[in-house]
Amino acid sequence: MNQFLPPHLRKTLLCGLLVTVVLLGQNAGSRWWSWPSNPDPQAAERGKSTFLKSCAGCHAANVTGTARGPNLIRSSVIRKDAEGSRVAALIRAGVPGKGMPAHQFADAEMHDLIEFLRWTIQKYDRVSPGPPPETYPVDRMLTGNAAAGKVFFEGKGGCSGCHSATGDLSGIGKKYAPVFLQSRFLMPRATKPKMATVTLASGEKVTGELRTLNNYDLVIRDSAGQQRTFDPATVRVEVTDPLAAHLELLPKYTDDDVHNMFAYLWSLK
Ligand code: HEC
Ligand code: HEC
Repeated sequence: MNQFLPPHLRKTLLCGLLVTVVLLGQNAGSRWWSWPSNPDPQAAERGKSTFLKSCAGCHAANVTGTARGPNLIRSSVIRKDAEGSRVAALIRAGVPGKGMPAHQFADAEMHDLIEFLRWTIQKYDRVSPGPPPETYPVDRMLTGNAAAGKVFFEGKGGCSGCHSATGDLSGIGKKYAPVFLQSRFLMPRATKPKMATVTLASGEKVTGELRTLNNYDLVIRDSAGQQRTFDPATVRVEVTDPLAAHLELLPKYTDDDVHNMFAYLWSLK
């Protein structure tokens, strides 16, 4: 999907990478990867099984986090660690007292696990590569087939379960500039809040908009507009994310699906 990046942005990215390489060149020592190399897909595939076994219970199989562990796609520890050594150290030590247990892996397995995390982050980044100019010419993005997009929309994609081409998405093709239309259907902005149902020890259930959920605080706004705080350790909480379906779809699209879907949505004027 990189071809959707306009040339001048690609150049900016490349300059950023080159600067990183130069800085790294001065830093010898053990390395888990070297920029700007792309993650090795085979290593990532091996690392994936380690991740699913040891990490997914808290960080979710799609790496976007659960109530027990944060989203690692946004992890600044991983993103800022040019060599992987800090990430490896964090995984070995855990974060004592904060719910992240220590894990020991042989070097090769650690390497593959980190390759999996990098590979996953890169995959998500590719669909939201930062703000491209509104003027990016649509004909370069229109490489798909609108009719095939319609079939996907109504069939395999399951889009019509929540959307309608003549209802909420009518006119979507003129609502956004082409590049924004593409990132909006891949990863929409939520217009509705996440909802949480809290079950207290007594069995009482409270439902409301989720405001905060981490290891220490659970705050919701109940239907009467009242802010309510709970200790997450003493209650059960179920969260409904209106964008959950979009997050689950993201890793499933093929490039063709994306191009066809774009062509179809673009035709809805
Ligand atoms: C029992 C739940 C649990 C398991 C299992 C777990 N983690 Fe974590 N992880 C956490 C929590 C909670 C944090 C946040 C700690 C904090 O607040 O600093 C965290 C933080 C992290 C961070 C730092 C994120 C950042 O940028 O701050 C990384 C990286 C990470 N975990 C990777 C892993 C990997 C890789 C595995 C599997 C080997 C794993 N975790 C297994 C709960 C878990
Ligand atoms: C389970 C429900 C669900 C499914 C399935 C689903 N979406 Fe969405 N979609 C949403 C929600 C929720 C939003 C956020 C906007 C909102 O809150 O109305 C959204 C937003 C969008 C937007 C942005 C609309 C705007 O005006 O900004 C587009 C485009 C879109 N979806 C396309 C698709 C396509 C294409 C598919 C199938 C590949 C799909 N959706 C599947 C629930 C769903």
